[in-house]
Order: sequence, then C-alpha cells, then structure tokens
Amino acid sequence: MGDFPGVAVITGAARGIGAAIVTGFAESGCRRIAITDILETELADLRKSLLARVNPQDDPEGLTILALPGDITSESFIEEFITAAKTRFGRIDYLVNIAGVGKPYRRSVEVEVQEFDFINNVNYRAAWLCSRAALRIMTAQEPLASPGNNEGWTRPAQRGSVVNIASQLGLVSRPGASAYCASKAAVIGMTKADAIDYSKDSIRVNCVCPGVVETEMTTLSGVVREGLKESVNIAPMGRMGHVREIADCVLFLSSYKASFVQGHAMVVDGGYIIN
Ligand SMILES: NC(=O)c1ccc[n+]([C@@H]2O[C@H](COP(=O)([O-])OP(=O)(O)OC[C@H]3O[C@@H](n4cnc5c(N)ncnc54)[C@H](O)[C@@H]3O)[C@@H](O)[C@H]2O)c1
Repeated sequence: MGDFPGVAVITGAARGIGAAIVTGFAESGCRRIAITDILETELADLRKSLLARVNPQDDPEGLTILALPGDITSESFIEEFITAAKTRFGRIDYLVNIAGVGKPYRRSVEVEVQEFDFINNVNYRAAWLCSRAALRIMTAQEPLASPGNNEGWTRPAQRGSVVNIASQLGLVSRPGASAYCASKAAVIGMTKADAIDYSKDSIRVNCVCPGVVETEMTTLSGVVREGLKESVNIAPMGRMGHVREIADCVLFLSSYKASFVQGHAMVVDGGYIIN
C-alpha cells in the first residue's frame, strides 16, 4: 500500500503530466485508481501497460484501474465517472484534476468567445465540477488513518485530498495567453477557497503550478516549441521540466506526508517566476 492506501481519481490521465501522475500513484503502491480522458485509445493503452507491468499475474489484491473515457466538459459525464469510481472502489481519497488545454495563443482581440469558453470550460469549470462531485463523496466518508504513525505522535486521519494542476501562468502572465492565464489563476483561487471550506472536513486542497514541461502541449508544433524558447530561458534553470518532476510534487501533496499543507500553490518551474 505504501503511501497511498486509498483510491486515486485522475482526469486528463492519458498522456503527458497526467500519465506520469497515474504511473507515479501505481508505482507508489496505490492499488485502486480511476482514470479518465477524452483520448480513448491512449487511456486504454496506459491502463493495459501499467497493469502488465505492476500486476502481471492479475492478482485480485494488486493494482486495479478503472478507465472511463469521456469529455470532461460534460457535467453528466463527470457525474458518471465519479459515481463509477465510488461504485467500483467504495471511496475517493486522492482527486487530481489535470485535464487542460493551451490553445489559442493569441491576444484577446483575436480570440473568439467560443475559444475563450472552451479553454475555461476544460481548465477551470471542469476542475470545479470534478471537485464538487468528489467532495460530496469525500465529506460523507470515514477518514483514512495515515500510515506510518509510529514516531510517538499520531498524524491526523484524512478524509480526502484534491490536487489541481494550475500553471506558473496562473501567477504571472505571458504574451498571447490571456484566456489560459485567467483560467489557471481561477484554478488557484478555487484551490484556496476550497481549502478554507473543507479544512473542517479533514480534506486538503492544493495545487501545483508547473513551468514549461516537455509534453504534447509544449512540443505540438515547431511554432509552439519556438514560441516557448524565450519562456524556457527566463527560468534560471534554463530547461523544460520532465513530467515526472511534476508528478513527484503531486504525489507529495496527495499523500499523508503533506498532512499540514493546505491551500498551497506549489510552483514547480525551474525558477521561472522568481526571475
Ligand atoms: N506542459 C506544460 O508546460 C504545462 C505547464 C503548466 C501547466 N500545464 C497543465 O498541465 C496539465 C496537463 O498538461 P500536459 O502538458 O500534460 O498536456 P497534454 O495535452 O499532454 O495533456 C492534457 C490531457 O488532458 C486531456 N483533455 C483535454 N481536454 C479534455 C477534455 N475536454 N476531456 C477530457 N480530457 C481532456 C487531453 O486529452 C490530454 O490527455 C494541463 O492542465 C496543463 O494546462 C502544462
């Protein structure tokens, strides 16, 4: 069981940062994981490859992954997914809201309302809908005792944890990304507000603000890659992050080891925003 005796629920799981986080949970001993993404084939492939690696003998006590593809902008799909996770695994302990989109990279005047709505629907509204559905379940369930309470004090039990993926661009801005920056600032605001509201329920809500990380989103085309060169160089570390470097921070915030971390926006950006 390791650090994760509970149930992980992860959106935007099929590739990039999401797939690294799912892999991290599985490798850290989490045995019940529910994943979703709009990319049906990639989601099924991730499930298959993780089970083959972590639970090749199909041990019933071993890793189980529920993979349900769908569009995270649909409220009814989110209700279906969160309900399916609860029905299958009995509870939800670690929600990670990752699904996100970056485009369009244009100034406000050149952005259509539908494009603005799309980016906010995926990046912010869907994260709120998933959180709302999962928080309903978390608040009603028994707290989970924290493992490793053998140091002479007892770490408080936790009823649940939510980690949202925001961005460094929720804290600072860049040219041609007003809708994206605003959607990620909204995620940070939601994180802090939910952290205040659900502290009394023993639920922690935090977010991670990645810098430029090497994924499809940042390497999609030569134009995107070229446009990001300057951003990469603003960061003192002068390189793109690796997906596992983001996953490690999400795992920490989800785990009992972060039992006193609440409403935090953890910046993981090679120093971008300090420069
Ligand atoms: N890569 C970066 O540099 C970077 C930096 C800061 C923040 N982020 C954030 O990290 C998260 C993951 O980004 P990534 O770089 O891994 O990108 P990615 O494009 O590789 O992954 C995003 C995932 O979200 C899924 N998704 C998008 N729209 C969806 C929808 N409507 N329904 C269901 N799933 C949907 C995609 O299919 C994809 O699997 C995003 O929220 C992104 O904004 C990324």
